[in-house]
Amino acid sequence: MKNFSPEWNQCYKDDGQMIRWPWSDIISYVMRHARPQGSETRVLEIGIGSGANISFFASFGVQLYGIDGSEHIISYLHEKHPEYRETIVQGDFTEAIPFEGQFDLIIDRASLTHNPTPAIRKGLSLVFDKLKPGGTYVGVDWFSTNHSEYQNGIPTDDPYTRRGYEEGTYAGLGMVHFSDKNHLLSLFENFKVLVVDQKIYERAVPDNGYVNAVWNIVARKPA
Ligand SMILES: C[S@@+](CC[C@H](N)C(=O)[O-])C[C@H]1O[C@@H](n2cnc3c(N)ncnc32)[C@H](O)[C@@H]1O
Repeated sequence: MKNFSPEWNQCYKDDGQMIRWPWSDIISYVMRHARPQGSETRVLEIGIGSGANISFFASFGVQLYGIDGSEHIISYLHEKHPEYRETIVQGDFTEAIPFEGQFDLIIDRASLTHNPTPAIRKGLSLVFDKLKPGGTYVGVDWFSTNHSEYQNGIPTDDPYTRRGYEEGTYAGLGMVHFSDKNHLLSLFENFKVLVVDQKIYERAVPDNGYVNAVWNIVARKPA
């Protein structure tokens, strides 16, 4: 697992980032652009984490798959959801997506964006291969270069990727990749991009200059 930041495994062991409720933007973008059609629909979440979105997809009766690099969080998910023992696996999704067949929908909430640019390119080419023709990718919370944290952390060889945060939102989370619009569009050049939204929240209280800026993207594999 050469691109996966091992900090994630430690974070989960320390009970960090244990998100339990589905992400509202995942619900909104999926319902608007790729509403699951029932048990025939195959859905994959890359970087499934603590499984926050499982209950949302399970409510449609879809065939749900997931992959994450953290051995600790995969054990936790197998214990909590034994029905997904075979379809939620440990692995680096920038190296391989180890499932047979293709998917109608692949979702990614803040997961590819925790990898450097070359790994993201490889991961997106795997995602492209694993989508059915006409299948949809929904990516939520890709960090934007307008995020105030883009100025912090330690620079790397890749101008879009920083690491080594010791405080703030990304403390202890390894690689953090930020995109501007052109960079994001270049990453998705093989896809038909349907929507790119930038969401910018400027914190007013406390007035400390914190800006949370993220991209949401919906992209389709041409049919
Ligand atoms: C911000 S968390 C998001 C978790 C989940 N998608 C959610 O929204 O609750 C990012 C997740 O991506 C996983 N991850 C990041 N890079 C990865 C890689 N290259 N291979 C496998 N998992 C990775 C991390 O282990 C972590 O669980």
